[in-house]
Amino acid sequence: MSVFKELLSRKSHNKLVAPAPCETQVEQMMKLALRAPDHALLKPWRYQVFTGDSLVQLGEFFAQASEIENPELTADKLDKIKAKPLRAPMVIVASVLITEHPKVPEIEQYLSVGASVQNLLIGAHLMNIGAIWRTGSLCFNRHLMDLLRLKTNESLVGFIYLGQEDGDKKSPKFAKQDEFVSWK
Ligand SMILES: Cc1cc2nc3c(=O)[nH]c(=O)nc-3n(C[C@H](O)[C@H](O)[C@H](O)COP(=O)(O)O)c2cc1C
Repeated sequence: MSVFKELLSRKSHNKLVAPAPCETQVEQMMKLALRAPDHALLKPWRYQVFTGDSLVQLGEFFAQASEIENPELTADKLDKIKAKPLRAPMVIVASVLITEHPKVPEIEQYLSVGASVQNLLIGAHLMNIGAIWRTGSLCFNRHLMDLLRLKTNESLVGFIYLGQEDGDKKSPKFAKQDEFVSWK
């Protein structure tokens, strides 16, 4: 398949099972992720890779941070939150480290990290690895950012769940271009 056709067939998948991507595959994905457009070469992207036992640790961080935010949460709800990272054999936590720069506002640094995550998703797809980018309220929870040892000028942008796709592979739908693209 041509690379173009291959890219058109990318589709997020939420049922992901073992095996997790191996170290070489993560390295390949990161090679692409760290080659995203980047004004003034600030390198605003940061990634933390969780797999195996560290996914359990990530789940504990999710539950702790949720409980600090809302002490009313029931034990049942906290257990569900704790289990979230176990929905895939690997979760890559993506964050943006903001650098003050006279020509590069914060928004541009977020955009760079968005492009970087997309590169990572493309890398996964090209290696036949299923993936989905998730956020949810935990992505905006400062207590979780502290537990993950993010710096004060750093924020989460997403949790990238990775693994082998389980169940039927969905086909992407393509938008009518004239609704989104206009020629001037
Ligand atoms: C910043 C961002 C956050 C997202 N958060 C979630 C999420 O929390 N849960 C979810 O099911 N999908 C989430 N999505 C959407 C999926 O990652 C995916 O893009 C969507 O299901 C469309 O599938 P596609 O990537 O195959 O087009 C998010 C997407 C982006 C860009």
